[in-house]
Amino acid sequence: SNRSYSVSSAFDFNTHLVPLSSTAELGSRYQPTTGGTANGVGGLERQKTLTFLNGLSLLVGLQIGSGIFSSPSQVNNHVPSPGVSLVVWAVAGLLAWTGAASYAELGGAIPLNGGSSVYLRHCFGELAGFLFSWTAVIVLKPGSAAIIAIISGEYINRVLFGSFNPDTPLPGVWANKITAVVCFLFVTALNIISTKLTTRLSDGMMFLKVGTLLAITVIGIVVAATGINGDGKGANLEWKQHGWFESRPGGVGERESSGIGGLGEYAIALYAGLWAFDGWDNVNYVTGEMRNPTHDLPRVIHTGMPIVILSYLLANMSYYFVLPGSVIGSSNTVAVAFGTKVFGPIGGLIFAIVVSLSCFGALNATTFTSGRLVYVAGKEGYLPAVFGTLGFRLSSSPRQIREFSHPTFFQRLRHVLRLTPREDYVSPWSKTPVYAMLLNAVFTTGYILVGEFGTLLTFYGVAGYSFYFLTVLGLIVLRYREPSLERPYRTWISTPLIFCCVSLFLICRGVFSSPLQTLVVCAFVAAGVPVYWWRIIGWRPVWNK
Ligand code: ARG
Repeated sequence: SNRSYSVSSAFDFNTHLVPLSSTAELGSRYQPTTGGTANGVGGLERQKTLTFLNGLSLLVGLQIGSGIFSSPSQVNNHVPSPGVSLVVWAVAGLLAWTGAASYAELGGAIPLNGGSSVYLRHCFGELAGFLFSWTAVIVLKPGSAAIIAIISGEYINRVLFGSFNPDTPLPGVWANKITAVVCFLFVTALNIISTKLTTRLSDGMMFLKVGTLLAITVIGIVVAATGINGDGKGANLEWKQHGWFESRPGGVGERESSGIGGLGEYAIALYAGLWAFDGWDNVNYVTGEMRNPTHDLPRVIHTGMPIVILSYLLANMSYYFVLPGSVIGSSNTVAVAFGTKVFGPIGGLIFAIVVSLSCFGALNATTFTSGRLVYVAGKEGYLPAVFGTLGFRLSSSPRQIREFSHPTFFQRLRHVLRLTPREDYVSPWSKTPVYAMLLNAVFTTGYILVGEFGTLLTFYGVAGYSFYFLTVLGLIVLRYREPSLERPYRTWISTPLIFCCVSLFLICRGVFSSPLQTLVVCAFVAAGVPVYWWRIIGWRPVWNK
């Protein structure tokens, strides 16, 4: 059978021949062959607002967050030399790219909102999709947003309280958390108000971030070439004296010369690098909202990934041009140290502001897609139906859900004349998934307040990579099971294979190094199974039956 998913053709009122009342059946989860599924009916995916640039900025905008401005120390401290550190960054970037390329194929074949949850459902069945939604809605998305928010809170406070200089003490942890919550709620409010506003913000932030990384590169090259430094202490000549690949004290080469210990050190370095590249799946959550997903999604990924990889490599090289390895290794705010070294305190301030803005942009990019993930879960019946609605509404009765609350006179007329399906009724002043955004806000705020950075990160690593692994494995399974599935973009088969092997290695390492956390992750995912029975098998919205 030649299957293809196409939201627009299945739901274009003029082309489908079945009466309106059966659109729900058309989108039935049990007939994925007809395409569309519940999340294709009405609502967000009919808006089709996202352009190529919007997609690019959601991808690049989440990837460039705080990582490139802070993680270099973690990579640096677990490898023997600056050259190897750059290699680790390149490997992390290429690995992220293989994952993203695999997701491009899946997203092209199944151009719906929801990312992994729809791919997993198609490849391994409803339960798999549900468990991803369950984990991503409750932990992965809000957890990672909380991490970014905490970091942005820290940087904003550095700016506000003038402690951008690494030597002066930081404002307290609670001050940072409160700033983080305020900043995050502000982003959520923007996302509730308007899609256009937040996509534009996202576009602007992308240019700022890529521009900053290029500026860091140029500054580094100028400093390296001229030996001039603003702080009057002269340039860092370490890279000239010792070369890029000479082992230096403190690196892994000194502590563990070989064997598994050494490998483990590289794995830690790789984890740190991967965090900075994480977010490469972001645009897949909103594929259904893109104007031309099958064409634009692969282009977004194959434009965005090289941009990010290249700018990360150049920025890292630049850090080593300007700062000695010991400073890079001991600083959690490399970019600020870099600015201070080159331009004095004012440079530190400027970079602290830029990093705050960068985190703010990443927070916006992740909140935008989290809202869509929750929205899809609401539409699928995984969550109470109110989360699958647009605009504000106070009742979630099935009738109201299907008929958007305030149709204008002309919308009503068009419906009476059968020019548009009724799902097109959208509250005229807000076309965003308001309740979904609010649910995400509740979880994220909770994690910001009670969560602890390290725990969140470990959980994110193990659980996140397990689902990436399964999804990409799904791609391979699908190649064999449904060779005729329409795939507008096909990646080389080696791409998913490489991704699966490396991510499996990373997961196994995580399992052995933190068995307790792994157990917590497993218990959490398993707890989704009874919920699945309750929500999907036992009870489900009557219009989805
Ligand atoms: N890469 C980002 C950074 O460097 C973090 C991305 C978090 N991931 C996510 N899926 N929200 O800060």
